[in-house]
Order: sequence, then structure tokens, then C-alpha cells
Amino acid sequence: MMIWKTRCVAVIGHPVFHSLSPRMHQSAFNRLKLDYLYLAFDISPRNLKKGVEALKQLGFRGFNVTVPHKETIIPLLDQISSEVKAIGAVNTVLIEDGKLKGFNTDGAGLTESMRRGWGFSVRNRQVMILGAGGAAKAASAQFALEGAKKIGIANRTRSKGIALKKRLKKYFPNVEAAVFGLDSPDLKNFLRQADLLINTTSVGLHPGDPSLLPTDYFHKDLKVCDLIYNPSMTPFLKAAHRRGCLTLNGRGMLLYQGALAFQIWTGRRAPVEVMARAISLR
Ligand code: ATR
Repeated sequence: MMIWKTRCVAVIGHPVFHSLSPRMHQSAFNRLKLDYLYLAFDISPRNLKKGVEALKQLGFRGFNVTVPHKETIIPLLDQISSEVKAIGAVNTVLIEDGKLKGFNTDGAGLTESMRRGWGFSVRNRQVMILGAGGAAKAASAQFALEGAKKIGIANRTRSKGIALKKRLKKYFPNVEAAVFGLDSPDLKNFLRQADLLINTTSVGLHPGDPSLLPTDYFHKDLKVCDLIYNPSMTPFLKAAHRRGCLTLNGRGMLLYQGALAFQIWTGRRAPVEVMARAISLR
């Protein structure tokens, strides 16, 4: 039963119907018997300001932010955390004392998923990121924050790769970063020395998509991650698997970014097993 003290949270995006966050969070609230309700709102870009104001006025505890609002929401917030400054995007908002406070748990969710899945930390490691969009921004800033030794960025549009490197150097002047084209021979050389390779592009999402890199680019000690979780095994991960690499898809990132958001809103440790079951994809 919903009564006056029920706390509401939501995800806002456009579109938002596909989001797994409502079932993931609601299962966690229910398990801990927290009187919270998680909703989903489709808010178009031109209505973002009004939508956010409405959530505040209705007394929401906070909300998740997804595409296409992760960057455009920043000017509407009262405070942003240090990782938001470095990443330039928000995925979680806490409304506290009438103030909108922005966080980004995507990057930390990703590295937590690698710690839990592989016992792997990026500290002092050489890592390669494919892509230079929003997900690559979150991943690269988190890797820099956690002390990666060298970060490679390979993107189809080289200028975007260069812009991401510049952004990274601005916030993390000491990090060593390099940019490659997807077909550059230097990319293969960089990968020989790399510990981690991660695909942040959308290639692999659609049936018939190829692997972004040929099988001989993977060496057996490389850890390989694809942020795509549906399908659970992309052609990219299949190629890595054929070479004997340890692989992870994006489900762990989805789970742990959610677990961190849950903690921000409730102050409680998230029941990750319950949340994982709620988003298990067959
Ligand atoms: P997200 O927020 O999920 O990272 P995005 O910001 O739209 O999404 O970024 C998509 C990424 O996938 C970009 O790096 C894009 O490369 P470009 O900068 O060259 O557009 C990459 N991408 C999308 N389709 C691709 C394709 N067919 N081949 C290679 N890269 C592709």
C-alpha cells in the first residue's frame, strides 16, 4: 500500500520503456522492506527542466538519468560531485534539503564489476578503450581516478578520440593517454602490452554486427569487457573467448552502478544478489 511516507525515485530518459532499473531497484527495496517506489518517466529534451522541477516539487528522493539527458541535466543541478566534473555526465540525482545533487556511478559500477568478476584493478595497468562517446568518458575518467598507468582510446572518428584525450588530460594531467584510429597498426602494438580492452561502442548491439577488432588483436592474458549486455555474448566477446581471454559483458556495470545509486538514496548497502536476479537476461 502506498501511504504518505512512501519515498519515490524514478528513472528519466527518452525513451525509457526498455530500462531495467525499475525492476532492479524495486526488488531491492522490497527485499529490505524499505517503503520506496521506483517509477519510470519518459521526458523529452524540451521538457527536461519542467520534469525535473516536478520531481522536486513532488518530494522525490532522487532519480536516475539516462539517454539523452545525462549531460544536459548538469546546469539544472545545485551541486555536482567530483566524478561528475571529470566525466561530464550524471546518472544519479539525490534530492536532499531541497537541493539537487548530481553523481555518476557508471564508472565506479564498471570497475566494481571487474573487481568482483575478475579480482582485477586497473591500478598501474595499461588499458584500451574502444569508442569516445558518453560511456567511454565515464570509463576513462574512472580508470584515471583509480590510477591506470596508460590509457589508449581508439575511435572511428579520430577527432572525437582526440577531444576525449584532451578532456582526460585536463582533469588528470599525470595520466598517460594515446589516441588511435580503429585500423591503425599502432593499436595492435598497444594491445600487445595491454591488460584490459573494453568496448564502449554500440557495435555488437544489433544482429549481424561484426566484432570491432579481428581475433588476432587479442592475446590470451588480455581481460576483455563489452559494455553491451544484450546480447550477452557479442561477436567481440566471442572473438576474445576464442583466444582464451577472460570476458565480461555490461551486466555487472548495470548492476553495480545501480547498487551505488541505491546506496546514495537509502544510505543502505544494496542487496546485489537480489538485484542481479531481477535483471538476469536469458
Ligand atoms: P554512448 O553514450 O553509449 O557512449 P555515443 O555517445 O553515441 O553513445 O557513442 C557511440 C560510440 O560508438 C562512438 O564512439 C561511436 O564512434 P564515432 O565517434 O565515430 O561516431 C561508436 N560507434 C557507433 N557506431 C559505430 C560503428 N559502426 N563503427 C565504429 N564505431 C561506432
